[in-house]
Amino acid sequence: MKLNGIPHRSIARTADGAGIRILDQRRLPWEVVWVELRSTESCAAAISEMWTRGAPLLAMTGAYGLAMALAEDGSDAALDAGHARLLATRPTAINLRWALDIIREHVRPLPERDRAAAAFARADALCDEDVALNRAIGAHGLALFRELHAKNPGRPLNILTHCNAGWLATVDYGTALAPIYLAHDEGLPVHVWVDETRPRNQGALLTAFELAGHGVPHRVIADNAGGLLMRQGAVDLVIVGTDRVTANGDVCNKIGTYLKALAAHDNGVPFYVALPYTTIDRATASGEQVPIEERGGDEVAWLTGPDDAGTLRTVRVTASPAHNPAFDVTPARLVTGYITERGVLGQP
Ligand code: MRU
Repeated sequence: MKLNGIPHRSIARTADGAGIRILDQRRLPWEVVWVELRSTESCAAAISEMWTRGAPLLAMTGAYGLAMALAEDGSDAALDAGHARLLATRPTAINLRWALDIIREHVRPLPERDRAAAAFARADALCDEDVALNRAIGAHGLALFRELHAKNPGRPLNILTHCNAGWLATVDYGTALAPIYLAHDEGLPVHVWVDETRPRNQGALLTAFELAGHGVPHRVIADNAGGLLMRQGAVDLVIVGTDRVTANGDVCNKIGTYLKALAAHDNGVPFYVALPYTTIDRATASGEQVPIEERGGDEVAWLTGPDDAGTLRTVRVTASPAHNPAFDVTPARLVTGYITERGVLGQP
């Protein structure tokens, strides 16, 4: 995607190849700051503290982080320790484990001196694959959007999305936002309702930033507004990304997704989940077994934004202790279809 007219991926190797360059997503949209990560520990911290985020992108950060561990020490012990350190950063998105396992299995048979270069090259290939997967998801989603728009051709297709499953959450294009970009580019009129996505506001800050940058008509709504809009017929479909889909089709995604799925079900609004195969966890039977990340209550109790002078300020929004589960599970029965790189699955 383009920033100020220049094409960028969300993650890329540094010029010397030894590190990676990512956007510090905590500062978007107020400041666009690229940072370089050059050690396993800095990658782990960037994932935990959510400089970088979104299931596919944190997987790529983890893959490069493991390559950096091997650049310091190519031993089996360093490989296993790096894998464990990076895996412990965030528990819910299965993509992180998927990428770390791939790198570990890829380099284990190699001589120690060759492991770091092989790991970096494999991580590069995972990034390229992520872009291809997202393009394919976009194409299948676009075909679906065309069908839905044909039912109401006189008005824009009104799409509601939650959290950020755009290019900032992946290497490029995004999952849930990929078909929206393609639809907009081919002239299909789309309008996006962007859930603010408390507590970290990935919708209001990141999805809105992406859509504005691409010129896609959108409006940010309070998380509580979606139900009313669905009742009013102002939502043609809901589309979200996901951090893990279990063997039975349950969908783990950003907290609040479940409530949107319930409202969509009650109002006959189709609810779609966009995902690559890297997000499927066949080893886990259902969403009940997925570890739900619990983050610090400060993310609920405090908000950061610029004052009128443009200075970033952090203010309290409650005087009480807060609880902060970061994900929820939407049962498969509430999902109309899964938009994957292979096509749309589960359509009636
Ligand atoms: O806590 P985050 O911001 O990493 O959560 C991200 C989400 O829940 C996304 O919707 C999900 O990872 C899909 S991203 C393609």
